[in-house]
Amino acid sequence: MLVIGGSSSTSLAELISRELGNAPFTIPFKKRFPGGEMYVRVGGKFEGERVVLVQSTKRDEDLIELFLLEDAIREGGAKSLALVIPYFGYSRQDRVFFPGEPISARAMAHRLEIDADLVVTVDLHSALNRTVFTKPLHEASGIPAIARLLRRRNVDLLVSPDKGGVERAQRMATLLGKPWLALQKTRIDSEHVEIVVPDGAPDLQGKHVVIVDDVISTGGTVVEAATLLRKQGAREIVAACTHGLFLKDAFERIKAVTNDILATDTLESAAETGSVAPDIASILKREGFS
Ligand code: R5P
Repeated sequence: MLVIGGSSSTSLAELISRELGNAPFTIPFKKRFPGGEMYVRVGGKFEGERVVLVQSTKRDEDLIELFLLEDAIREGGAKSLALVIPYFGYSRQDRVFFPGEPISARAMAHRLEIDADLVVTVDLHSALNRTVFTKPLHEASGIPAIARLLRRRNVDLLVSPDKGGVERAQRMATLLGKPWLALQKTRIDSEHVEIVVPDGAPDLQGKHVVIVDDVISTGGTVVEAATLLRKQGAREIVAACTHGLFLKDAFERIKAVTNDILATDTLESAAETGSVAPDIASILKREGFS
């Protein structure tokens, strides 16, 4: 067994190796050729071994690194390869919205999975994303990792910013034994949304609420939801997500309207993070990578 941490997921990969009974762990060497092309080299012995490769694909260069690492692992004679993509980039272009567009999620999935025997990921953006992989796909949830952080806090209510996130808020509510509420969101454009509290919602005065989302990117959704909840009298507001992209000044804008920001370690961020390593490792163990 060997666990390899790509440059976007080194800390998480090391935690996964610990969860797999302190499996050997390595970080590949990476540099750029003078022309800008990437060079990688994987240390450690993996001929005839089972290999776990961990790399989120937030930036395009993460994808190139992953293609090269997978090829190096196969070339080095690995017996099997579990590809762990904690955050799967390009997942939002999961259909053709306008003629002439690609299904980017599928384009990336096909190329990423070529050398893998199985793929493990966390909270995919949509059900369509599950159809773009052809190799066996296993999806962990970020909810238990966030719930582990929330157990130490005072929580009255779990809030989904939109109807699409109801299942997530319900699952968190069940784990914590608390009620949940779904707000009503209308997207105006890629950075702006309108959110309202539905009729019949519980009184929010003095409540400790947690907004639960799968991803925070521009922060538009969470900022709008938090501002609304504060106006309704919420005393403490925590923003929690699986994938903390926090694009541009999103982190600072969210910090200004909430009391705390939580995320998982599928991406490195300034938020307090709960690790998905135990959840990913339990899938890997089940699939014989231990
Ligand atoms: C929407 O369907 C997602 O669950 C998130 O609410 C959304 O992607 C967050 O994006 P942003 O931070 O840009 O509002």
